[in-house]
Amino acid sequence: MKVLVTGGLGFIGSETVIALYKNGHEPVIVDNLSNSKIEVLDNIEKVSGKRPTFYKVDCCDYEGFKKVFEKEGKMDAVIHFAGLKAVGESTKKPVEYYTNNLLSSLVLVRLMKEFGMKNIIFSSSATVYGVPERVPLVETDPVGHATNPYGETKIMIERILQDAAKADSSLNVCLLRYFNPIGADPSGLLGEDPNGIPNNIMPYISQVAAGKLKTLHVFGNDYPTPDGTGVRDYIHVVDLAEGHVAALKKLATNPGVVIYNLGTGKGTSVFELIAAFEKATGIKIPYVIDPRRPGDVAENYANADKAFEELGWKAKLNVEDACRDSYRFQTTTASK
Ligand code: WQD
Repeated sequence: MKVLVTGGLGFIGSETVIALYKNGHEPVIVDNLSNSKIEVLDNIEKVSGKRPTFYKVDCCDYEGFKKVFEKEGKMDAVIHFAGLKAVGESTKKPVEYYTNNLLSSLVLVRLMKEFGMKNIIFSSSATVYGVPERVPLVETDPVGHATNPYGETKIMIERILQDAAKADSSLNVCLLRYFNPIGADPSGLLGEDPNGIPNNIMPYISQVAAGKLKTLHVFGNDYPTPDGTGVRDYIHVVDLAEGHVAALKKLATNPGVVIYNLGTGKGTSVFELIAAFEKATGIKIPYVIDPRRPGDVAENYANADKAFEELGWKAKLNVEDACRDSYRFQTTTASK
């Protein structure tokens, strides 16, 4: 299948492009480089042996984005990664998050309709569940009030896509709710390389280990969790990428709207993550305890049974694999 990948030079997007090639698909990348680097294109080529077609386009720019559809002709599906994605940052810049994430998605849906595209996979997030009433989370758990603007944009885009599919029964929508993507391509050439100080914990820990940052700040150890620190479902980005390939197969069966948690089904605390990183790399991670971060929840991990039953997909790699791969990327390729 010819697959349009928005945000395809980003952390998850670029690894998904590798998985698409591995499975015989033809990716076409659109990215505005706001949180990614053009060198990723060269590294995709080094890892996969192929160089995807790339357009530097902002998905909010209807005219600019339309040119991609005009040039590429019929594309079989789109995987929509493009979007701002940091919980903490979104509480400081809510309007920027709403504008960017909603407008880019609305422009995309409009262009899909104009060019007769019927299949979309949306990069959603476990934050749509808000403060979980119970864990592990299942897809039928209530969605509605995220604890931050980033999560709210994901809820709204899920609703936009489901309403669009209600109005057009030929539309196939797959909502993939990622838990916490971590790790990097085992080659060390692709990974999470955000601009500036990382918001997410894994690139932050990796930069401490590489000597780029001094100390990890643990945001709260007074949560109602086994060791007091936040618990998350950390899923290796390579597993996550494969989940998108499995979702493409599902869309080909014209399922209408389908929703899947993409997680490992296992919760890991911040302290356990630090221990796993130290075990995987042999490097001690100094940390201090800070107050809780606004927008954070205590626990968030998946029941991933539905993806296994309906997509035949489940995570194969573990947190230690991800720590090892993340550190290799940090010391091989990540921005100095
Ligand atoms: C994880 C844990 C923090 C940084 C968000 C989005 C999710 C996905 C991943 C896009 C929490 C703690 C963190 C630090 C810390 N986004 N932490 N010190 O907020 O769970 O999830 O990012 O794909 O959709 O919701 O991820 O890595 O920021 O935090 O102690 O410097 O690590 O409190 O418990 P989060 P995170």
